[in-house]
Amino acid sequence: MILPQELIRQKRDGGALDPDAIKAFVAGFDNERVTDAQVAAFAMAVFFRGMEPAETVALTEAMRDSGEVLDWSGLDRPVVDKHSTGGIGDNVSLMLAPIVAACGAAVPMISGRGLGHTGGTLDKLESIPGYDVRPDNDIVRRTVQEVGCAIIGQTGRLAPADKRFYAIRDVTATVESIPLITASILSKKLAAGLGGLVLDVKTGSGAFMTKEGDARALAESLVAVANGAGLKTTALLTRMDEALASAAGNAVEVRNAVRFLTGAHRDAAVEEVTLALAAEMLVLAGLAADAVAARAAAARALGDGSSAETFGRMVSALGGPGDFVERMDDHLPKAPIVGAVTAEAAGSVAAVDARALGLAVVELGGGRTRPQDGIDHAVGLSDLARIGTRLERGDPLGVVHARSEDGFARAAAILRSAYRLAEEPIPAPASAVVARFG
Ligand code: URA
Repeated sequence: MILPQELIRQKRDGGALDPDAIKAFVAGFDNERVTDAQVAAFAMAVFFRGMEPAETVALTEAMRDSGEVLDWSGLDRPVVDKHSTGGIGDNVSLMLAPIVAACGAAVPMISGRGLGHTGGTLDKLESIPGYDVRPDNDIVRRTVQEVGCAIIGQTGRLAPADKRFYAIRDVTATVESIPLITASILSKKLAAGLGGLVLDVKTGSGAFMTKEGDARALAESLVAVANGAGLKTTALLTRMDEALASAAGNAVEVRNAVRFLTGAHRDAAVEEVTLALAAEMLVLAGLAADAVAARAAAARALGDGSSAETFGRMVSALGGPGDFVERMDDHLPKAPIVGAVTAEAAGSVAAVDARALGLAVVELGGGRTRPQDGIDHAVGLSDLARIGTRLERGDPLGVVHARSEDGFARAAAILRSAYRLAEEPIPAPASAVVARFG
């Protein structure tokens, strides 16, 4: 086997690595055969020199094989999932999983927690009393088989090499590397035993990749490497120039999602992105002949109430209340201080700093800055004014849900400075879906 320092030297000098050498190096992550210093040096060498697609495929497969690979054989439904690069007010998973499940697919959706300015699906679901994001394997399998979807957390057994690698990248300024992000995301998705995957790659002020060119490069890399590793994958590039839903936080986003499923209220951008992703998943699953038929099936499952029913059954199967969809307001936590933040002058919403909105949620206590932090599920923002909306002086920019007067004041100040109003009329953004890959 090539010594770790020789492999690092080859990459440092711009060479392409042998796939077997990458696999042997990653196999050493499970013990001290490869030290933290060597992992960090390797990450920095890749950061500067990049990787060929074949090298990224080898890195991805090696990290997948560092732990358990789920096996869904025996299920009578095709297994598909979605991964998003993360954003603000992005509660799409809560609607997408039940819609696609109601159309006949199995969606074991392994989701994460929020970190930094982005929200996390598991945190949102934990606003629901009793909902267990870490049920044992039998419950997950039964829920996926009987209900069609289970939105749950990752166990330490899936891609443990990525866990170590990511923790080292996080503290060595080597996260922002397209091959390393690609291998990190896809190793976990390959370990989930999927038959198809759609990626929602975000671009804009609230996204991880703010520049569209970077987001396109990431989408292209993810699609090429996933398909190279044998997982049928497509990607959509979607806008994150403002919060996707008109709510950002935890319980407030769950409320927004349930109202979407029942038809009480649907934010247009959420509807567009959710149905576009659902269509991709249904085609990948072989449940629809093309995107047009798939979108129609997804819209039907939304309109006829079966998606809302599926969501309710999933919540109940995973420990939540049996009547959650019907009596959501009795179950979700509410913040003691709820009030509108108003525009100080008239104008049309020209731009929103979505990242700042995410930070306002963190400031309120609804997000975390360190993985070990706890969160307040009740706080957040709702009724956020959309780009293009004409506001008069005193009209609400949004509603703040706070635990304390002090938290309210800080979030209100962030909200005000996140909005830029213009005197002239501003057209609403054309489309939330910018491009498709795959
Ligand atoms: N998300 C991941 O899972 N890994 C990365 O490297 C970046 C984002």
